[in-house]
Amino acid sequence: MRRAVCPGSFDPVTNGHLDIVARASNLFDEVVVAVGVNKSKNRLFTPDERIDMLRTACEPYPNVSVDGFTGLLTDFCRDRGIRTIVKGLRAVSDFDYELQMAQMNASLAEVETVFVPTSPEYSFLASSVVKEDATFGGDVSALLPAFVHERLVRRLAERDQGSR
Ligand code: PNS
Repeated sequence: MRRAVCPGSFDPVTNGHLDIVARASNLFDEVVVAVGVNKSKNRLFTPDERIDMLRTACEPYPNVSVDGFTGLLTDFCRDRGIRTIVKGLRAVSDFDYELQMAQMNASLAEVETVFVPTSPEYSFLASSVVKEDATFGGDVSALLPAFVHERLVRRLAERDQGSR
């Protein structure tokens, strides 16, 4: 059984993430989308919310499951018997950081990282950019599943209300 993990923060999941998950689901028998839930002040959505949105978004892929993890990704891989990490590469600018992570992870456990080139239409897409644009009223509806877009707009409005 060929298993792989697609790790990330997914705050929130974008069509770019789903492009990588869909392609990983064609390459591996089982794919676990692993949501890093290490503490960070800067998240817009809670770990449970991010996991919940991903579960809905990944419903079309029967061999994909979604889970959260704390601590090291390599510990999660070891616990699950997973030896492959799949990461999307959008541009050369991703490469330095991703190479460092891949080499660090390989030094911590018996895991290989497989890089999948992001489809060109998503090469600029990142959750951080989507949040920034949406905060200032940009239309990001084409970049996310419709239900995620609705939740994003609602959350930003709640945050806006809370800060007044
Ligand atoms: O979507 P992101 O923010 O690029 O995801 C980053 C994530 C969650 C994949 C990465 O930060 C991670 O693996 N965190 C867990 C801690 C860890 O294992 N770090 C790598 C060893 S240096």
